[in-house]
Amino acid sequence: MIASGGFADARGLVAALALGADGINMGTRFMATKESPIHQLIKEKIVANDERETELIFRTMRNTSRVAKNEISTKVVAMEKEGAKFEDIRELVAGARGKMVYVSGNSDEGIWSAGQVQGLIQDIPSCAELVSRIVREAEAIIRSRLEGMIVHPNAQAAE
Ligand SMILES: Cc1cc2nc3c(=O)[nH]c(=O)nc-3n(C[C@H](O)[C@H](O)[C@H](O)COP(=O)(O)O)c2cc1C
Repeated sequence: MIASGGFADARGLVAALALGADGINMGTRFMATKESPIHQLIKEKIVANDERETELIFRTMRNTSRVAKNEISTKVVAMEKEGAKFEDIRELVAGARGKMVYVSGNSDEGIWSAGQVQGLIQDIPSCAELVSRIVREAEAIIRSRLEGMIVHPNAQAAE
């Protein structure tokens, strides 16, 4: 079982393991890595954004999608509130237009994916650096923080 959504660091991995998951999937976090094939400015935008910079579009169409907050997603949400139908927003939400964000680096060009977890993303490491850091820090959390919470049998006997 792989946990998905909202993971970017070792604390999340350890929490997911505690809940019974075998691992985590990361979407937004891997967008802000050296190897990610998107424009550098979008990687930097993810680093700059906090957890509040997302929007929920398509809610009125019962097909909710969390995307980066920008001129287009804010406009789409406002139009939906006014009763817009899909035909009215089709041009704004087009996948081809959203793809241009990753190519041009203009974060307001279309709809693009980003989760609230962008609030936890502060750098653009290589994938190897990112994964080894998460594993190293997860082991430290388990060893020092969690291990320290166990009352060992010998300690009880001594009391
Ligand atoms: C580049 C990218 C594309 C995505 N495309 C879709 C999609 O087509 N459909 C969907 O349901 N979710 C999509 N998602 C949302 C992922 O399902 C979601 O990000 C995943 O659960 C991981 O969450 P996280 O971004 O908080 O790590 C996309 C996410 C990213 C980063």
